[in-house]
Amino acid sequence: MLSPAFITKNQHFLALFPKGLAPAFKTQAYIKKYNSKTNSCLNYTTSSESKQESATLESVSSEIQGYSNYMLNTYKKPNFFLEKGEGCYLFDSSGKKHLDFTAGIAVVALGHSNPQISEIISTQSKKLVHVSNLFYTREACQLAKSLVEATLKYYPQGKVGIYEPTYTNSAPTPKVFFTNSGTEANEGAIKFARKYGKIIANAGKVRVSQNNILKTEPNLKYHMHSFIDGFHGRSTGSLALTPNPKYQDPYTPLIPGVTFSRFNETKELNTFINELTCGVIVEPVQGEGGINTASIDFLKAVRRRCDEVGAVLIYDEIQCGLARTGNFWAHHAYPPECSPDIVTFAKPLGNGFPIGAILVSDKIAQTVNVGDHGTTFGGNPLGCAVGNYVVSQLSQQEFLSTVKENGNYLKQKLNNLASPYMGNQIKDVRGTGLIQGIEFKSSPSHIVKRAQELCLLLVEASKNTIRFVPPLIVTKAQIDDAVRILDQIFKETFSN
Ligand SMILES: Cc1ncc(COP(=O)(O)O)c(C=O)c1O
Repeated sequence: MLSPAFITKNQHFLALFPKGLAPAFKTQAYIKKYNSKTNSCLNYTTSSESKQESATLESVSSEIQGYSNYMLNTYKKPNFFLEKGEGCYLFDSSGKKHLDFTAGIAVVALGHSNPQISEIISTQSKKLVHVSNLFYTREACQLAKSLVEATLKYYPQGKVGIYEPTYTNSAPTPKVFFTNSGTEANEGAIKFARKYGKIIANAGKVRVSQNNILKTEPNLKYHMHSFIDGFHGRSTGSLALTPNPKYQDPYTPLIPGVTFSRFNETKELNTFINELTCGVIVEPVQGEGGINTASIDFLKAVRRRCDEVGAVLIYDEIQCGLARTGNFWAHHAYPPECSPDIVTFAKPLGNGFPIGAILVSDKIAQTVNVGDHGTTFGGNPLGCAVGNYVVSQLSQQEFLSTVKENGNYLKQKLNNLASPYMGNQIKDVRGTGLIQGIEFKSSPSHIVKRAQELCLLLVEASKNTIRFVPPLIVTKAQIDDAVRILDQIFKETFSN
């Protein structure tokens, strides 16, 4: 999986041959090319290589120009094709090797072209690819079970939300609904929150001191609350919960009844979250919004307020979940009083194969009936076969400990790197595990561009921040390489 900020040749072939007529010819030739010659940009190139390289760049550039007639471009992309990946590296059309600290925007946790995953895709594709949700498959059932088990295993002390035992004699049993993407997971979560809100309002279970109106109009309990700098996706419901004019303005009006307040600000919660609110969505670590970690007090207060007004607490762990912070879920770092009712996730679950999911508490699950929600592709056996492998790796204690250790190492290296510029060009270094950010005083786009020239791929986040979300298998040596390149760029850029 690559982020859409990079061009892949397959996208262009598809644009040229939209009916699946794309010739499958070139792949083998590319692979041979990489094996015979790779310019590791990280070690820099010789002058004859540079000449050859600029000729290749020119021809690739005109090829991309030709394809641009066919592609609807909603992303600004560099002028090369990415053609192959291996672990933490990507190889472009001139054979250059890039160190990938974007991981397709926090997706490729187990690295590009992971051999086990390739094998699983190959085997499963010969067995069963798709059957629809009209039937059970073992792959989907097993993935749901592993997700629930890993969730409970690393947080056994919880008594709230998805950890709440609903029946005195049985274990808590959160349940999983599979989707195709993050935004689709959030759309489902909004629907489940609305249905739950309707049911408890109808049953007269909402405290109505402030809004007596609910006694006569239970359908008014449909409002959703989210937080400034949160990002929840681009489909219209998720977009409505993403309070960023850049994303929302071209498409308003969006779904009604959405309120926002400041992240990590507890005083505003009572004003905006009330008996008409059916759901509150928050990222425990905001990714797109600039790598902002929720404080324990803030999440405790949000949970408390949700309980007071009968609203569902949704954690969007699409970017920060599934081992990225060094915990299986980012919220596992918080005390039980912060537990959510719903967790949405996607990105790394398929290591690039599109799959997402919604994990709901048993209490919410009891309000969702057959026919209430659906999807054609969500939970197909191919995606779930990959998901089973991904979860089996990401849920291992040793894996999580390594992410924590390497995350601390990255943070320490970024702090050292930033310290000469702190307070001047750089404002802050922050993050948890392998989701880290450097906030600059002004836009760091030129730094990201220069890094790309030196074959380090980075992605920006808002608030003038560069985001560091490498594959979770990144090594300390690769972190050193990335920091060395950035050190060179900072010296070039900031010393005069
Ligand atoms: C926190 C968060 N939520 C939702 C989304 C949307 O996910 P998708 O792009 O898979 O629809 C993203 C994507 O970056 C995200 O970071």
